[in-house]
Amino acid sequence: MSLRPFSERQRGRFVSVDGPSGAGKSTIVRHLAQLLVAAGEDVHVTAEPSTGPIGALCRELTETTTRHALACLYAADRYHHLEAEVRPNLEAGRVVLSDRYIPSGLVMQRFDGIDPMFLWRLNAEADRPDLAVILEADPEVISERLRERGPHNRFQLSSGSSHAEVHFYRQATERLIQAGYDVLRVDVNRRPPERSAALIRDRLLAFFAPAAG
Ligand SMILES: Nc1ncnc2c1ncn2[C@@H]1O[C@H](COP(=O)(O)OP(=O)(O)O)[C@@H](O)[C@H]1O
Ligand SMILES: [Mg+2]
Repeated sequence: MSLRPFSERQRGRFVSVDGPSGAGKSTIVRHLAQLLVAAGEDVHVTAEPSTGPIGALCRELTETTTRHALACLYAADRYHHLEAEVRPNLEAGRVVLSDRYIPSGLVMQRFDGIDPMFLWRLNAEADRPDLAVILEADPEVISERLRERGPHNRFQLSSGSSHAEVHFYRQATERLIQAGYDVLRVDVNRRPPERSAALIRDRLLAFFAPAAG
């Protein structure tokens, strides 16, 4: 690949990966990081909730806290994650890959009936990712994968939650596009994670390539 590594620029690139539970975010982020490293990039992988103190609180309180309180807690973690981890790595010239970011914040609390406009405002001052990757899959496909993996939080327990999640993600994606976010939608229904990661890598390298001349 003849493209200049992102790391030779003054600032890195921030890429978020979101999508319904079971869509393959964590698997794809892992493959994508390997592919970018192989392409000469300096990569920092992270996730939300973060590994910081507020992220730990999110994990501890997800089952017992609800609605606005939980939405604010996740948003607090997001802002702290930006300050403590994302921005310093971008400033060091790295590609930062986040497994979940704003789009998940616009979706998860919808299960608790929170107004999407409240969630939008809560996230309004969080840094825009250079590219927001949204994994798209049919509810049937992801509920089958989740059945195999087993549910791991209260947002995945109700039957039909995959349908609602896919619906909320579609609305969040439209909102992000309307607001001028650079969004890359990837259909992961029949695509193995390695192939999705390669597709995202190709799009990233092309998208961030310096203009010729
Ligand atoms: N494209 C795919 N085809 C088949 N199985 C997949 C695919 N993507 C992910 N999986 C499987 O689905 C499960 C959830 O993947 P994971 O990466 O943990 O998803 P997420 O982080 O989005 O919840 C894992 O068992 C993974 O191996
Ligand atoms: Mg995951």
